Amino acid sequence: MANKISTVGVIGLGTMGRCLVRGLIDSSTVSKDKIFFTTKHGEASAKAGKELGIVPVGSNAELVKKASLIVLAVKPQNIPEVLAEIGKSLTPQHTVISIVASVQTDQIEASVSKGVAVVRAMPNTPALVREGMTAICVGSGASKEHADLAKMIFSPLGQVVVVDEKNMDAVTGLSGCGPAYVYVVLESLTDAGIKVGLSREVAQQLAAQTVLGSAKMLMVTGKHPAALKDEVTTPAGCTIDGLMELEEGKLRVTLIKAVVQATNRAKSLRLPDSE
Ligand SMILES: NC(=O)c1ccc[n+]([C@@H]2O[C@H](COP(=O)([O-])OP(=O)(O)OC[C@H]3O[C@@H](n4cnc5c(N)ncnc54)[C@H](OP(=O)(O)O)[C@@H]3O)[C@@H](O)[C@H]2O)c1
Repeated sequence: MANKISTVGVIGLGTMGRCLVRGLIDSSTVSKDKIFFTTKHGEASAKAGKELGIVPVGSNAELVKKASLIVLAVKPQNIPEVLAEIGKSLTPQHTVISIVASVQTDQIEASVSKGVAVVRAMPNTPALVREGMTAICVGSGASKEHADLAKMIFSPLGQVVVVDEKNMDAVTGLSGCGPAYVYVVLESLTDAGIKVGLSREVAQQLAAQTVLGSAKMLMVTGKHPAALKDEVTTPAGCTIDGLMELEEGKLRVTLIKAVVQATNRAKSLRLPDSE
């Protein structure tokens, strides 16, 4: 298998499918004329295809004939119909990358021809602004080369990490759902700014840049978050008073419980024939 993407077929051109295609085009990873796609409804295909300048295909079966890398970007409830259409037409020359939540690689492998490599990925919505976090895991028939191929696909959208499949529900609970938790924090900090007399516009800018800058500090310095927190916290200063309120409000345990609950929910949504 060449370590280069020749043709990509995207099944499903909704929020994530479009985001992925945009990343591939903008980063020049694949040229527009090498990207084929299907959606369920014709009108949606025409509109989305026109916007992105990519090639619509009449059916999923036809798409598989045109592309070697097949991306599954439909909702979980549509996956059985899609696999029924394409499963037996896929050959070992194809690589399947699925971003469908809660569908395991072995479930996909069970519906496709023997020898087809399957990679699963869980991106998140900041991928829309190229600051996404994607975790990928490989199925039993996929190699490091297939994982590298998936990395090429998702790298234009932000950071990529490889995990064991058993950790994909945890990924869903943390980075998949995580943007929602952070938006709640951002909304609260903005409201707090308003409470202490700032305009909404200024408060929101202060909150957003503070979250962005703090995350960058963590990534650039590699320091433990507690060490970075200590650097901001001067003796008898203002920050320690704020931190005491956070402790009293149980922010830490609340965030931990949020991730645990979302992880459990992801696990419960798995299709029934997986472990
Ligand atoms: N959004 C997120 O934050 C996020 C993050 C990580 C993973 N995911 C996963 O990404 C997947 C897609 O999510 P999304 O938000 O992009 O969904 P979406 O906006 O609802 O898009 C789904 C797409 O699938 C198409 N589709 C449905 N059945 C099809 C079929 N039989 N053949 C071809 N296309 C078909 C739909 O076409 P029509 O529009 O014509 O019906 C639509 O273009 C989901 O499985 C989700 O779990 C999403």
